[in-house]
Amino acid sequence: MTHGSAAPVQTQDDFVQSIETDGIGIPDYLEKYYWWAYVRPWAVWTFERDWMINLILWGWYNPLRRMVQEAMGEKIPGRTLKISCCYGKLEPELADRVHAGGGTLDIIDVAPEQLKNSRRKTRPAFLDKVVRQFHRNSTDLGFADNSYDRALIFFLPHEQPRDIRKQTFAEAFRVVKGGGEVYVVEFAKSKWWHPLRYIWYPVLFVLEPFARDMWHHDFASWLPSGGIGCTLERKLCFGDFYQLIKITTPKK
Ligand SMILES: C[S@@+](CC[C@H](N)C(=O)[O-])C[C@H]1O[C@@H](n2cnc3c(N)ncnc32)[C@H](O)[C@@H]1O
Repeated sequence: MTHGSAAPVQTQDDFVQSIETDGIGIPDYLEKYYWWAYVRPWAVWTFERDWMINLILWGWYNPLRRMVQEAMGEKIPGRTLKISCCYGKLEPELADRVHAGGGTLDIIDVAPEQLKNSRRKTRPAFLDKVVRQFHRNSTDLGFADNSYDRALIFFLPHEQPRDIRKQTFAEAFRVVKGGGEVYVVEFAKSKWWHPLRYIWYPVLFVLEPFARDMWHHDFASWLPSGGIGCTLERKLCFGDFYQLIKITTPKK
């Protein structure tokens, strides 16, 4: 497989300038509820630590990463899209698997600070022309129909208002080829006996007001046509506190 091409590599300065002047704004819900987590430069400094993410995920950061990567395969060929950035080593690890499979990985996010951080973490893979970052809103990806083999959405749906979440899935389904996969890692409705249901949910509901939907609505209700024509394979873990869903999109 050839990743190299004669095209010059975009400098960091050009990249930063392009994402800060392209007119794509921070969505209102993100600025209102998540400015402290993703939007300000110091948010990256604060949260970009594996131990911190592991703490926030109650010790499940490693198993969840492992779970989704095992589902996607050791070698990932073709075109993969990651819809929004995340803290930690998931992106560099995914880049390694994509590199091993001779594929490419495109990562989008609407917050410039997140994209800069993602570029820093995946720089070797970027220089190898395996990974690219794009400043996009998940509701308007701007990529061609059927242009990706798969997409990954890691803990994004619970952070979006319902209408935005539906648009994100509509866009994911549009850009992923028919019969391709959309992998989603998210909260699920835990078992009644789970202690975190009583300790953590109340905190989460204050900090993350849209997360409540994860418990009260059927996941398929956010998918285009209510998920009709898709195959959903769900893997629950940690007393059903978390889930990995592999969606196979309908044939087009
Ligand atoms: C993937 S989610 C949650 C990740 C998880 N908390 C972590 O870091 O491990 C957070 C990301 O989604 C991005 N995001 C939120 N709304 C978005 C949208 N409409 N379009 C693109 N990115 C979005 C935020 O900027 C942030 O980088």
